Amino acid sequence: MKDAAPRPIRLSQYRKPAHRVDRVDLTFRLHPSRTRVLARIAFRPDPEGPGGPLRLDGEGLRLIEAAIDGTPVTPLIDPAGLSVEAPDRPFLWEAEVEIDPAANTALEGLYMSNGMYCTQCEAEGFRKITYYPDRPDVMAPFDVRIESDLPVLLSNGNPGRAGKGFAEWSDPWPKPAYLFALVAGDLIAHSDRFTTAEGREVALNIWVRPGDEDRCAYAMDALKRSMAWDERVYGRAYDLDVFNIVAVDDFNMGAMENKGLNIFNARYVLASPQTATDADYARIEAIIAHEYFHNWTGNRITCRDWFQLCLKEGLTVYRDQQFSGDERGHAVKRIEDVQMLRARQFREDAGPLAHPVRPESYVEINNFYTATVYEKGAEVIGMLRRIVCEDGWRAGLDLYFDRHDGQACTIEDWLAVFADATGRDLSQFALWYSQAGTPRVTLSSRIEDGTLVVDLRQDVPATPGQPEKLPHAIPVALGAVARDGTEALATQHIVLTRPHETHRFAIGTGDAVVSALRGFSAPVVLDQPLSNPDRALLLAHDTDPFNRWESGRELARDALLRMVRDGAAPDPAYLDALGPVLADDTIEPAFRAMVLALPGDDDLARSLAEGGTVPDPDAIDAARRALALAVARRHEDRLAHLFDSLAEPGPYSPEAGPAGRRALRGAALSRLSRIDGGARARALVESADNMTDRLAALTALVAIGQADDALAAFYDDWKSDRLVLDKWFSVQVAAAPGDSGAQAAARLTAHPDFHWRTPNRFRAVIGALGANHASFHAADGTGYDLVADWLIRLDPLNPQTAARMSTLFDSWRRYDAGRQELMRAALTRIAGKTDLSRDTSEMVGRMLA
Ligand code: ARG
Ligand code: ZN
Repeated sequence: MKDAAPRPIRLSQYRKPAHRVDRVDLTFRLHPSRTRVLARIAFRPDPEGPGGPLRLDGEGLRLIEAAIDGTPVTPLIDPAGLSVEAPDRPFLWEAEVEIDPAANTALEGLYMSNGMYCTQCEAEGFRKITYYPDRPDVMAPFDVRIESDLPVLLSNGNPGRAGKGFAEWSDPWPKPAYLFALVAGDLIAHSDRFTTAEGREVALNIWVRPGDEDRCAYAMDALKRSMAWDERVYGRAYDLDVFNIVAVDDFNMGAMENKGLNIFNARYVLASPQTATDADYARIEAIIAHEYFHNWTGNRITCRDWFQLCLKEGLTVYRDQQFSGDERGHAVKRIEDVQMLRARQFREDAGPLAHPVRPESYVEINNFYTATVYEKGAEVIGMLRRIVCEDGWRAGLDLYFDRHDGQACTIEDWLAVFADATGRDLSQFALWYSQAGTPRVTLSSRIEDGTLVVDLRQDVPATPGQPEKLPHAIPVALGAVARDGTEALATQHIVLTRPHETHRFAIGTGDAVVSALRGFSAPVVLDQPLSNPDRALLLAHDTDPFNRWESGRELARDALLRMVRDGAAPDPAYLDALGPVLADDTIEPAFRAMVLALPGDDDLARSLAEGGTVPDPDAIDAARRALALAVARRHEDRLAHLFDSLAEPGPYSPEAGPAGRRALRGAALSRLSRIDGGARARALVESADNMTDRLAALTALVAIGQADDALAAFYDDWKSDRLVLDKWFSVQVAAAPGDSGAQAAARLTAHPDFHWRTPNRFRAVIGALGANHASFHAADGTGYDLVADWLIRLDPLNPQTAARMSTLFDSWRRYDAGRQELMRAALTRIAGKTDLSRDTSEMVGRMLA
């Protein structure tokens, strides 16, 4: 059995640090298994701090020697750090430690990836490098010297002296330790330059392994566009002479915004038309922008403590979403973001892992880099902007940068700038940061003598630890569409603040359909009893693109739910409603592709569960396939016409226009493959000159169980390319029909190329199984068991990735008794593992609670 569970850390227990740091001077003598780190740190007692001895965090360090002001000291060492008496005045701490990067499989701290040294310090990895007050409210300038024979030696800030076997770096901007980074390796740069609006000449480099240098152009282009955008939109210019990005193969997450030295999972940097899909290009653009934008929202202004994580993440996700929208079109981007929010955050909010955007306690902070903190955090920013209006938004942000540059801040600081800039009381709005759960807004309407009367009700569901909720301030954008398709009421912006409200609008017609929550103006579930003809009207005529798409999706969802629940046939009204959209060439192809997409299985399962029906994964999968087939039969001619006419003539371009046409063509192909035996997909998989088309064709073939030859050929072509091979693994599991993905995953985990210690490869198989609803939930439990086996195997090596992947089980209480029992058994088996990490044990504990 396990020791007593570690005690949670609480927001309410925040204390200022006892000591501040005036500067940090680090020397690294790199060695794969015996790296020496020499630290010289200038400390100063904080008169406002609690006093006491010097307390430093440290994990897995071998202390060689330590001194204070030149006098050797013998600190008291424990598993979490050390304590030592220190003078009550400024003093110099010097320590030498030894660490073992080659043995670091957790990929946190200093570790090795394919012969290259790299670091990941957020949230608490710096304490695995040297003894330090590893908390974000301790900020200092860093000087770093790296000694190694490797040709490229990088750290934060501006380069200093360099010579044979060493390089020095100096970062003038005070930063918390989580933004420290070091990279050393045999790397090649793709280089460029950028001149800031303030006239600073910045050298830009993307560092990759030899052979990858011709796949950096798109990331570089995205970086330059991001730099220009932040100057144009927020008046924020870059503040160092170099900006370095490094692509790393072994990485737990997407990327990291270390000051002046961003470190990326290679899959979010490297792209060529032959190896990356349109979706990869879009993600690269978004993540490059995200990490770059952190330079101001995260680095120049950081978080006081980790409970404030959404201060930098919610705002930075919001900023990268706006950037992508500006670059690629807002309508489609908004739909994609909401799809993601619903798939990941609404799911999280509805289950045992629900937590507020600003959590109030945690055991392991790495477990709180969640869709709630990031994506709901971004939605909260969007609502704030709607509530304070454009002028208030600009004024508030200017004040934020002015007032807090160089500080470590809280959500209270953030809200105060908007309250001060606009004179508004934001105390009710602040509940979005402290109350978990997705509010439900129920809307009903009627028209009385030229007045549209709208009744709105809000309910915030109970979540773990929060049985009672207060009403939120919910911005609701709504309009109305008349029967003839014209706009009967232009968009009105109201803010719902009470449990029940009635609003009246003058309207020029006796009959209209309310189009509510336009642009998805708040992260809520909208309950609006619309008939299918009303929805079809909105799909055809709404002026709000989000609600056009939403109406189509609601029609599809309703059709699917009736198929699953009542064994109904595919709804001809839905099939009819698709026709005009498919045929209307004035509508953006990317948008039409999204209208054609059906709600995902997991989404349907959640709808069923919320409506009181136990979801049957096999029935859901069968219904989705039957509806896709019915769409194909009903619209074969139009789909075939789209497939033929949308073939791109010229060379591949990742721009939104051509990407949208490929998306619509791919969507048409996936439907047509259900009736042409895969003929078109087989031809395309061979003729495609780009990965987007090739993978779309391969996916269509896997989905109809006709992919054996194509998969073998794909493997032969790409077996030596790790990023493309990840796709080969993933597609076989994620797109497998019925519950066959569970066997596919089992087979692939025995493949010699299943390098499971590399997080990307692990996710390509185990994550893909989790994404295939019918396969993960295979009735015999093989999916659950496979995932549990692999989590148990991964956990001792890489707790962060294991813990994150364990969330696949978070919806276990939705399902039938048999599946619940199997999932509970899998979770219990993980929980009972000896020496289970703090990360995974917190997660399974919350899921079983
Ligand atoms: N700050 C990084 C980003 O959002 C992510 C760091 C994730 N760290 C973690 N321990 N999960 O860009
Ligand atoms: Zn971030």
